[in-house]
Amino acid sequence: MSHEALERLHENLLRLKLGTAEEVLDSTLEMAANKQLATVDVLDHLIAEELRARRTSAIETNTKLAHFPVRKRLEDFDIGFQPSIDKAVFDDLRTLRFVAEAENVILLGPPGVGKTHIAIGLAMEAIKAGYSAYYISTPLLVERLRTAEERGKLDRTLKKLASYRLLIIDEIGYLPLERQESHLFFQLVARRYEKNSTVFTSNKAYSEWGEVLGDNVIASAILDRILHHGITLNIRGESYRMKARRAAGAAFPPPARTGSR
Ligand SMILES: Nc1ncnc2c1ncn2[C@@H]1O[C@H](COP(=O)(O)OP(=O)(O)O)[C@@H](O)[C@H]1O
Ligand SMILES: [Mg+2]
Repeated sequence: MSHEALERLHENLLRLKLGTAEEVLDSTLEMAANKQLATVDVLDHLIAEELRARRTSAIETNTKLAHFPVRKRLEDFDIGFQPSIDKAVFDDLRTLRFVAEAENVILLGPPGVGKTHIAIGLAMEAIKAGYSAYYISTPLLVERLRTAEERGKLDRTLKKLASYRLLIIDEIGYLPLERQESHLFFQLVARRYEKNSTVFTSNKAYSEWGEVLGDNVIASAILDRILHHGITLNIRGESYRMKARRAAGAAFPPPARTGSR
């Protein structure tokens, strides 16, 4: 290859926005000369490197867009610590079948048992698999919907929130909602129903959702849709934070009775 051709190739790769291929071009050509690689192998290597870099950067971009409060990985979740979690159900969730089939996941349990960890871990897996994902806490969601309604932009906001393949709605029940807020919440649930997956987390049992949502009729309309294609993980265990504190030897109050076995 002539020096001119090499220079032109560098330039043209950049023009075509193949930045990684351009970066690895010289080392690839060197390797090709040393190992006497065929032309097709050189091309294959360049394109594969470009694609790998793009995939990594797309995952990073989509992870940022998902607005996770923290990043959590499923492989860091110690399932042995929560015997109430059905391993078969957990393994099924990890396959992301529920995302492909637009099923919901509802993670119930007291604080500290890993609901948010599992929700974010699943969403990070989903992003790796190429799905769009978004995290929002219930108070923020309600605030966003209220503001959108006030500004006459409710439809647009609902459309956007309905569009994510996986939406995490975290912490239902920490703050009770007003009737009107529950109605906004219902509209989002109705839009996502049978189209896209939502992971809900709550510290309240279903029987308490009427109280949380300020209206039994709206609560049952919401639950009806959520649970029609929904997988519930009821985590009846000890707080993981408590375990960490105990391991550190600090005094801690006895775990609250949560109906664990
Ligand atoms: N089984 C577990 N294995 C590893 N880390 C855990 C586990 N359960 C909880 N944690 C960690 O404990 C903390 C509290 O968990 P979190 O998911 O916020 O609980 P919740 O949302 O149920 O209140 C987080 O830092 C989380 O990563
Ligand atoms: Mg949480």
